[in-house]
Amino acid sequence: MLQKTSAATDTVARYPSLIDKRVIVTGGGSGIGEGLVEAFVAQGARVAFVDIAEEAAQALVDRLTPDARHAPIQRHCDLTNLDSLKAIFADLEAALGGVDILVNNAGNDDRHSIAEVTPAYWDERLNVNLRHQFFAAQAVIPAMKRAGGGAILNFGSISWHLGLNDLVLYQTCKAAIEGLTRSLARDLGRENIRVNTIVPGNVQTPRQEKWYTPEGEAEIVAAQCLDGRIQPSDVAALVLFLASDDAKMCTGHDYFIDAGWR
Ligand SMILES: NC(=O)c1ccc[n+]([C@@H]2O[C@H](COP(=O)([O-])OP(=O)(O)OC[C@H]3O[C@@H](n4cnc5c(N)ncnc54)[C@H](O)[C@@H]3O)[C@@H](O)[C@H]2O)c1
Repeated sequence: MLQKTSAATDTVARYPSLIDKRVIVTGGGSGIGEGLVEAFVAQGARVAFVDIAEEAAQALVDRLTPDARHAPIQRHCDLTNLDSLKAIFADLEAALGGVDILVNNAGNDDRHSIAEVTPAYWDERLNVNLRHQFFAAQAVIPAMKRAGGGAILNFGSISWHLGLNDLVLYQTCKAAIEGLTRSLARDLGRENIRVNTIVPGNVQTPRQEKWYTPEGEAEIVAAQCLDGRIQPSDVAALVLFLASDDAKMCTGHDYFIDAGWR
């Protein structure tokens, strides 16, 4: 059973530097992205998010708006379509009045065997898991430079560090994302734009619940150092810190939130 998120409780850290910050989250409609949108909204940030899951995205806006300092906004955007990405990011930048924080969260971990990968499937998997992270960053960098700095958080994965089965293309993308992060961090550091990778372990989202049986979940917990299942709010806690000014000297690295899964 999914545990209740803790984004708006009294026990989570508050970051004064995140109040009124302009944040774009990709894939914010469900799963970890939903937890990120909720957590940034609870900090008083101005949040915009994109997703292809329109119904879930609107339901999230409706749920968060009544208590929000700034009501979140959402746009339908298929991030594999780069023309659409460019147009919608320009629209969101105008709606927010700039961009301070980008969270490249969207991804898709469909399983596949080596034999069934065609050139078209290769392109499709790389486009949904890797390519948009670069082009989303490229889209927001001018606004971050104008603002005097910013933070970009790219979502990687524990999967390739472990070498899991049936995920060759996903894991290829997630390995590349750590290289993307280091490269962007080097090129953008003098502009005070920080770039880091978030490396989640197995996070209990509705989609992950589809992949795992109770026995499979027990195996993951047994391989973790810590008991318990990682929640989107646990990932959000790390993202908030790295996006905040408290992390002003953190860049170019990979930060794990995996309960010590080995
Ligand atoms: N959940 C985990 O255990 C886990 C582990 C390691 C890494 N991650 C990474 O964390 C991130 C979030 O994962 P999640 O588990 O929340 O996934 P999820 O599938 O639950 O959510 C991903 C969101 O991205 C959206 N999305 C997918 N393709 C899109 C597209 N082409 N354009 C726009 N939006 C699109 C989906 O509609 C969905 O709302 C991903 O990058 C994933 O690889 C997750």
